[in-house]
Amino acid sequence: MNIIQHYDKLIDDENDPFRDPQILQDHMDKWDGQLFVDSMLLDKTKRVLEIGVGTGRLAKKVAPNCLGFTGIDISPKTIERAKENLCYLDNITLICADFLDYRFEQTFDVVYSSLTLMHFENKQRFFSKTDSLLKSSGLFCLSIDKNQDRFIDMGDHKIRVFPDTLENTFDLLKSTRLYVEKITEKEFAHLMVLKKH
Ligand SMILES: C[S@@+](CC[C@H](N)C(=O)[O-])C[C@H]1O[C@@H](n2cnc3c(N)ncnc32)[C@H](O)[C@@H]1O
Repeated sequence: MNIIQHYDKLIDDENDPFRDPQILQDHMDKWDGQLFVDSMLLDKTKRVLEIGVGTGRLAKKVAPNCLGFTGIDISPKTIERAKENLCYLDNITLICADFLDYRFEQTFDVVYSSLTLMHFENKQRFFSKTDSLLKSSGLFCLSIDKNQDRFIDMGDHKIRVFPDTLENTFDLLKSTRLYVEKITEKEFAHLMVLKKH
């Protein structure tokens, strides 16, 4: 099974973190949460991009606090669900495409991503593209999952992932214009705030 099939199947199976009960949403916060959202320094002048928007779990906290919100996701069923979940917001654009291939027509003040970097085998391209999409002095807020498993195993199927570490991420950042502003540790992830110089 590939990434698209995996995430489409989660929607078919009614697995939607946006609609989870509060106790499960609190669990997901262990990868990001309000601390992560606060690190974006949002205000109503900012244009924001989420890489791997999923069904809108974080977008619902971010989009109401910025000028324009764009979310991109590779899974068609996930993006359709995000459109349903976020339909009450009038400042959002949701795109179904591979982040590495899509040609964006704008740059952003803030780019963020959580629970998604492990899906990218070519992380250098991920960071270069993010760099190119950020305005000067823009922020990239990244949650780096501590999990080092090389597969997501769902029992009936599994998909390959490419785990990250802080050390590897520092190396990859050397060829970008993104500089570390702050690193915070949460139970399941490191939260990195990078600024474009
Ligand atoms: C674990 S989910 C996280 C969703 C959301 N960020 C959250 O934390 O609730 C990872 C998401 O990344 C998306 N994704 C994986 N590879 C992608 C790619 N190359 N381009 C765009 N989206 C991708 C998947 O379809 C999936 O919805």
